[in-house]
Amino acid sequence: MTTVLAIDQGTSGTKAVVVGPDGDVLALSEVSVRPTYLPGGGVEHDPHAILDSVLRAGRVAVNIAKADIDIVTLANQGETVLAWDPDTGRPLSDMIVWQDRRAESICTDLHEHASDIAQRTGLVLDPYFSAPKQAWLRRNITTDGVVTTSDSWLLHQLTGEFVTDASTASRSLVLDIDTADWDRDLLALFNLQEERLPEILACDEIAGSTSAFGGTSAVGGLVVDQQAALVAQRCLYPGEAKCTFGTGAFLLANTGRTAVRSTAALSSSIAWQQGGRTTYCLDGQVYTAASAVQWLEKLTFIDTAADLDRVAAEDSHGVLCVPALAGMAAPWWRPDATATFTGMTLSTGSEHLVRAVLEGIAAQVAELAAAMSVDLDQPLQRLRVDGGLTQSRVLMQAVADLMRIPVDVYPSQHATPLGAAALARCAANPELSLDDAIINWSPSTTYEPQWSNDRATEFSTRWRAVADSLS
Ligand code: G3P
Repeated sequence: MTTVLAIDQGTSGTKAVVVGPDGDVLALSEVSVRPTYLPGGGVEHDPHAILDSVLRAGRVAVNIAKADIDIVTLANQGETVLAWDPDTGRPLSDMIVWQDRRAESICTDLHEHASDIAQRTGLVLDPYFSAPKQAWLRRNITTDGVVTTSDSWLLHQLTGEFVTDASTASRSLVLDIDTADWDRDLLALFNLQEERLPEILACDEIAGSTSAFGGTSAVGGLVVDQQAALVAQRCLYPGEAKCTFGTGAFLLANTGRTAVRSTAALSSSIAWQQGGRTTYCLDGQVYTAASAVQWLEKLTFIDTAADLDRVAAEDSHGVLCVPALAGMAAPWWRPDATATFTGMTLSTGSEHLVRAVLEGIAAQVAELAAAMSVDLDQPLQRLRVDGGLTQSRVLMQAVADLMRIPVDVYPSQHATPLGAAALARCAANPELSLDDAIINWSPSTTYEPQWSNDRATEFSTRWRAVADSLS
């Protein structure tokens, strides 16, 4: 009987959920955080604000729940990095957020090693991942202290330990994906060979303990936020896939015990290590989903995301959008790409542009799914979705229409913390299987495809031509 405080430290906010022994959400607290967008592709977080959000959200949730917490778990952004002093815990840089593209030149310099890196790590050489950002930070900000992903720093603040987990380490470009150990050759390539590296824990391991939230609780069940949602969505068998519509949209498919080397320009990562076994996943990314919606807010086309479906036109009247506001990831991998609208006329209104942005996000997810079916050797049968933007019926219908499969909406807005809570339950009860640790669910809504195959193909062909022409 385990009560878990699950903290989801994301790009746009920190969410803390207290999950009771029966899997009920006993309390919820959210603190929003806003990254700073800099000219030249920089995206930063203030580490103090992030730590404050973790502590505040966690403490409020625990106060509301009025329950003893057995274990605290943390889901993290995956590829966000910072430098910090391991003696004092003091940050020595801002956080360089996963969306930051300033490490592009580091990747360009290593271009000739791209296929070796892909073979060893399962990842594409791109500034999205953490090692290029760490190398950039070392070259441009500070050589002091340690440079790690944000989870290691937050966990040090909570427990005093110096750790990360296997799923987060697999997002680095310096982890051998087959052995789940740091790769010395790759560390040297990124000039990180002298760095002190955190110990890599399994996702069901106990990292230490904390009294940051009142009482003393174990800390464990650590995982990347996207992989946590894959757990919550019960994608436990090869070929099962989910897409989380958060700041970005992230499509992940379980590939079982196989770390696939993608032939379709996707990336492969450790989904989780649990029960002494490693499970892998393929993933593809849309860098701007809720970020693109926030951009529509900035342009005053909508006031909040809740306006999307009311404002979006029934039809975009020929307007197409590739919402590459922070570059493009799989399968294009063009960090320098910028967003575009085509097909506008004097009759185009903001309602058509809003519709085109939503269709553009859906079209990108559909492209990722098509790439995934190449690697999986079969098309996806259904897609499970979660995240704030699943509240947009227009977006979800567009995803179903363009992917031409049913889209099942997860019934809770808390897939990521619930997935991390399942791993934490395994950490606290080593005899528990992951299957038994996950709360059962059935979709709140299912979107069936409404477009004909011809219409979907025609749209995708036109949209892909625009996407392929971006630079
Ligand atoms: O790879 C970055 C991603 O995991 C961040 O997720 O929820 O902050 O959009 P989110």
